[in-house]
Amino acid sequence: MTPYIDTLQKRYTTKIFDPTRTLSADEVQAIKTILRLSPSSTNSQPWHFMIATTPEGKDRIAQATEGFYQFNEAKVKNASAVVVLCTRTDIDKAYTDMITTQEEKDGRYPNDEVKETVRGGREFFANLHRDQIKDAPHWMEKQTFIALGNLLVGVAHLGLHACPMEGFDYEVMSETLGLKAKGLAPTVIVSLGISAENDFNAGAPKSRLPEEVLFTEL
Ligand SMILES: Cc1cc2nc3c(=O)[nH]c(=O)nc-3n(C[C@H](O)[C@H](O)[C@H](O)COP(=O)(O)O)c2cc1C
Repeated sequence: MTPYIDTLQKRYTTKIFDPTRTLSADEVQAIKTILRLSPSSTNSQPWHFMIATTPEGKDRIAQATEGFYQFNEAKVKNASAVVVLCTRTDIDKAYTDMITTQEEKDGRYPNDEVKETVRGGREFFANLHRDQIKDAPHWMEKQTFIALGNLLVGVAHLGLHACPMEGFDYEVMSETLGLKAKGLAPTVIVSLGISAENDFNAGAPKSRLPEEVLFTEL
């Protein structure tokens, strides 16, 4: 088994965090790097990440787990860090141009022709989803889920534990973090830290559908 597959086998969703275990500054930085390096269609990076490492920050996020979503409240409050993965609500030329400018700064373009071709491709897909298919928010959210996958495997590789959560009140999260005004929508949250010794999920066997159901050889 390769180390990568070993990581996939061993990672699991933490249900109970040890509130005494705190991530180091280097680990928090590594989490940011993992998120930042996530790939996205046309390098669109239509996301923004809110990160809470203080009790106050985590309490703000936990407001969205009150009531019906209470089953997730302790997973937010007892984790060491919580990331709210947000997605842009709009993609316009100013934003796609910002990416092109960044790519130029990062030395991606050998000449202007390449730069304009890449700019055109990026605009084509943004316009296609915004104006023709009219699924831009959904298209952008799909990119954010790539960052989620990257984060879950990345932190497992670092020996850290994580709990991804869709179980929170989107309206409350948006309101509490002032996301609408920032042109963002909450997509998914991830609590990070170290599992408690009584985390019942740690020893549970991995369960996935069998290969016959999931694959078709062509
Ligand atoms: C997008 C997404 C949303 C999830 N939401 C929750 C959640 O709200 N609460 C929770 O305890 N687990 C949540 N999970 C964890 C899944 O139940 C878990 O990943 C799945 O059962 C597979 O188990 P494993 O992660 O241990 O391999 C979520 C996972 C994903 C990927």
